[in-house]
Amino acid sequence: MDNMIRSLPKAELHIHIEGSLEPEMMFALAERNGVRLPYRSVEEARAAYAFSDLQSFLDLYYEGARVLMEEADFFDLTAAYLKRAHSDGVRHAEIFFDPQTHTDRGVPFAAVVSGIHAAQAAAAEESGISSKLIMCFLRDLSVDSALQTLQQALPYREWIVAVGLDSAEVGHPPEKFAAVFEAALKKGFLSVAHAGEEGPPEYIRQALDLLHVSRIDHGVRCLEDPELVDRLRAERVPLTVCPLSNVKLRVFKTLAEHNLKRLLDAGLCVTVNSDDPAYFGGYVAENLRAIRKTLHLTEDDIRALARNSFEASFLSEEEKQRYVDEIERFEGSRDCGSR
Ligand code: HPA
Ligand code: ZN
Repeated sequence: MDNMIRSLPKAELHIHIEGSLEPEMMFALAERNGVRLPYRSVEEARAAYAFSDLQSFLDLYYEGARVLMEEADFFDLTAAYLKRAHSDGVRHAEIFFDPQTHTDRGVPFAAVVSGIHAAQAAAAEESGISSKLIMCFLRDLSVDSALQTLQQALPYREWIVAVGLDSAEVGHPPEKFAAVFEAALKKGFLSVAHAGEEGPPEYIRQALDLLHVSRIDHGVRCLEDPELVDRLRAERVPLTVCPLSNVKLRVFKTLAEHNLKRLLDAGLCVTVNSDDPAYFGGYVAENLRAIRKTLHLTEDDIRALARNSFEASFLSEEEKQRYVDEIERFEGSRDCGSR
C-alpha cells in the first residue's frame, strides 16, 4: 500500500516553498550568505520545531527564511522541493511563495521569482514534473503592502497563475483583502485563500464571496457549519487539507481526531498536501501514508484523493483528464494482480 501511495500520480496544491527549507539547507545558505542562525546545529533546529499554534510556527518560519538572500538560493530551495516531490510521485505542484517575507528584508522581488521560475523550468526538463506558482499576501500585513506586492508581480504575470492569502489567520479575515483580490482578478490572476484553519467557517464564506477563490486552503473548520458544507459540496469547492500540519499546529490534538475522513464522507473535494514539510515532518506521500493508517482509509479513498488533486488543480481540462485516466489504469493493473 505504501508503494501504491508513492507511485500513484498525484498533484500537490498546498506547499509553501519557504516551508520546504530543510535545516541542512538552512545551515548551508546561512554559511553562504553570512546569516546568523539561532540554532547551533541541524539537530537543535529540528528540536525547536515544537509548536503550540500557527503563530508559534510562523515565528520560526519567518526566522528561517532570512537565509534566503540571492536568486540562486530560491533556485536551490525550489529545485530541492521539486526533486523531493517527484520522488513521492507528485506529477504536478502548485507552489506558494511569500514575496513580502523577502522584499521587506531588501531582497528584490525579481530575485525571488526568477530563482523559483528557473528551478521550475529545470525540473520540468529533468524529471517531467510540472508546476505553477501562487503568490501569497501575508494577511497580518497591510492592504497597502499587498497592493504594492501585486504591482511588483505584474511584469511576471505569465509566471504566476494565482494569488493567495496566508500567515496569521485569526483577526485578519478575507474581507480585509477584498479590494486587493478584485484588482488581482482583473489582471487575470486566479485566487485561493487560507481559511478555516484556525479561523471560523465565516472566513471560508468570505473567501468564496469576497475573494472569489477557486479553492480553500485548509478549510477543515467548515464541518462546524452544515450549511457551508452543503454549499462546498454543491459547488464542488476543493479543500487543500494538510493533515500533519494540522496536528503539528494543534488544529487537531492527534491525527486520529483529524476530520479528513468525515470531510471525504461528506462528499467534499478533499486533497492531501504537505503545507510546510520541512517543519511538519512529512512530504505528501508521508501525509497520505499517515492518514491511510490512522484514519483507516481504503485504497478507493486514496485513489479519490489523487483524482481530486488533479480535479482541484489549475491544469487544463485535457491535462486533468489525462491524469484521471492514468489513475484509472493504475487501478486496472492492480485489479489484474500485476502490482
Ligand atoms: N497557515 C497560514 N500561513 C502559513 C502556513 C499555514 O499553514 N504555512 C505557511 N504560512
Ligand atoms: Zn499553508
